[in-house]
Amino acid sequence: MGSTVATATRLAPAKSFGLTDPKPGTALPFSWSPALKLEMAPLYERVKHVITPMEWPHYAPLIKSINALKAERKAVILAHNYMTPEIFHCVADFRGDSLQLAKEAARTSAKVIVQAGVHFMAETSKLLSPEKTVLIPDLRAGCSLASSITADDVKMLREAYPGVPIVTYVNTSAAVKAECDITCTSSNAVKVVESLGAPRVLCIPDQYLAKWVQSQTKVEVIAWKGACEVHERFTGDELAMIRANDPDVQIIAHPECPPDVIAASDFTDSTAHMIDYVRKHRPKRVVLVTECSMADNVQAELPDVEFMRPCNLCPHMKRITLPKILDSLLNMKEEVVVDPAIAAKARRAVERMIYLRS
Ligand code: 13P
Ligand code: SF4
Repeated sequence: MGSTVATATRLAPAKSFGLTDPKPGTALPFSWSPALKLEMAPLYERVKHVITPMEWPHYAPLIKSINALKAERKAVILAHNYMTPEIFHCVADFRGDSLQLAKEAARTSAKVIVQAGVHFMAETSKLLSPEKTVLIPDLRAGCSLASSITADDVKMLREAYPGVPIVTYVNTSAAVKAECDITCTSSNAVKVVESLGAPRVLCIPDQYLAKWVQSQTKVEVIAWKGACEVHERFTGDELAMIRANDPDVQIIAHPECPPDVIAASDFTDSTAHMIDYVRKHRPKRVVLVTECSMADNVQAELPDVEFMRPCNLCPHMKRITLPKILDSLLNMKEEVVVDPAIAAKARRAVERMIYLRS
């Protein structure tokens, strides 16, 4: 993945757990009781439309334990829009799409960042906060786009397209970012491509994002062959069927979807902009053509909107769970460390995007 991983060498005691030598599998310091139910009632209020009263006694002690330990470790949890609601609404300090999380990573004063998302997001946080400890609760939380291209592939593209700038989606390893001119996210891909002032730009690694960008700009966009294993499974035919049965439904798609899916949609943009669209337009019924948890998270906030759910799960995002976040904070693992030579070059590409003028 272009970075090395080390377990933090010195573990501070977890006082809220009454521990001086925390170990994986330690019993929780809080258990379900009438007092805990009362204390956690305001948090349950936030998620009551998407978490049943039967599930809550399982989550509440974990949430209380994580929030106590998080304060003790001076940690923040950055949660992507695809996290499940008990993570997204109950333990996260900052929530958002890839761009928003990268910006939070750059400005937080916390000592520890727990990335409730996938590995490339944790690496991006580490690039922007090299002095902080960045933890990912499950090291296997990868991404099919990040694994579709290597640094050597980018070097080969440089030779094949001399002088053509290379924009990489943030869904790549630090080693790939280090070989590129600038990063982009789905929130700013068109702006980034146009900012380069070049007639031709390589836009890697997502072929569908590149096609969508091409449809929005006069710059010639050259694509790589990668795809998101979650979004490429949607089809224009399934959306046409939904529309035929319900002509008033709003269909909103992520730009990682294939072109026929985007053509069948009313609006296409990043996860954050998809959420903003629902907040602003309050459609009666909506399909979010993306990862399943996002509809749950917006449903918790907007119970009057009906979400139809032809959604797909991201197996990488779903590796992040409350017990793993607790274990991560308790045992300060897995720490993401990027090779300094790679980090210096990759950071330039990410910072060039972050500080792009609007
Ligand atoms: P966003 O930046 O739109 O949140 O997308 C990240 C991602 O991985 C979508 O699959
Ligand atoms: Fe990667 Fe797709 Fe999962 Fe996003 S949804 S992390 S792009 S595999």
